[in-house]
Amino acid sequence: MKLLLVILAYLLGSIPSSVWIGKWFFNTDVREYGSGNAGATNTMRVLGVKPGIAVLLIDALKGFAAVKLVFLFPRTAGDVETMVLLGVCAVIGHIIPVFANFKGGKGIATLLGMIIAVHAGAALMAMATFMLFFISFRIVSLSSILAALSFPIWLIFRYHENSSVLVLFSFALVFLVLVTHQKNIERLLNGEESRIKLRKNNNE
Ligand code: G3P
Repeated sequence: MKLLLVILAYLLGSIPSSVWIGKWFFNTDVREYGSGNAGATNTMRVLGVKPGIAVLLIDALKGFAAVKLVFLFPRTAGDVETMVLLGVCAVIGHIIPVFANFKGGKGIATLLGMIIAVHAGAALMAMATFMLFFISFRIVSLSSILAALSFPIWLIFRYHENSSVLVLFSFALVFLVLVTHQKNIERLLNGEESRIKLRKNNNE
C-alpha cells in the first residue's frame, strides 16, 4: 500500500513541467539555456514570466499533491512519517524525473508545495524569508538557500515542533538544497550569480 503511494508520489514529482511547457509551447528545452536547470527560475529566465509562474505553480502543486496522497488510504491518512516520505519522493522525482531522462530541477518549488502540505506555518515563514532576501538581493538561488536554512529554525524555535520525523526532515531539506545548489553557491562565491530584473522578463 505504502509502496504504491511512494511510486505515485515519485511519478507525480517526475512530471517535468518546465521541459514539457518549453517543448510544447516554445519548441525549446530550457535545460539547454540559462542555468540549464529544469525549474521555474530558469523557465522565467529563458521563456518569460508567465511560463515561469506556470512552472512554479505546477511544481509546487506536485509536492503538495504528493503529500496529500496519504489520504488515499485510511490506514495512512494523516501519518506524518508517510507524508514526509511521499513529499520527499516527489522532490526526488522532480530532481531525477523518469519522464525527462532523469535530468530535472533543484526541487525548490516542489519542496515548497511539500512543506506547505506538511507544516503550513513554517512554510509561510520560510516563504517570507525568501521574499525578504529576494527583495534585498534579487537572486533566486541565494534566497532559496537562505529560506531552506530558515525552515528548521522556524519549525523548532517558532513552532516548537515535537515531531522528530519533521525536524529530521527539515535538516535533510537544508542538506538537499545545499547539494542541488552547488553550482549556484560557486557562482555566488565568485560574484557571478545572475540577478532577476524585477521590471523585465530577462536576467542581467
Ligand atoms: O529553483 C532553483 C533556484 O533556486 C535557482 O535556479 O536556474 O538560478 O539555478 P537557477
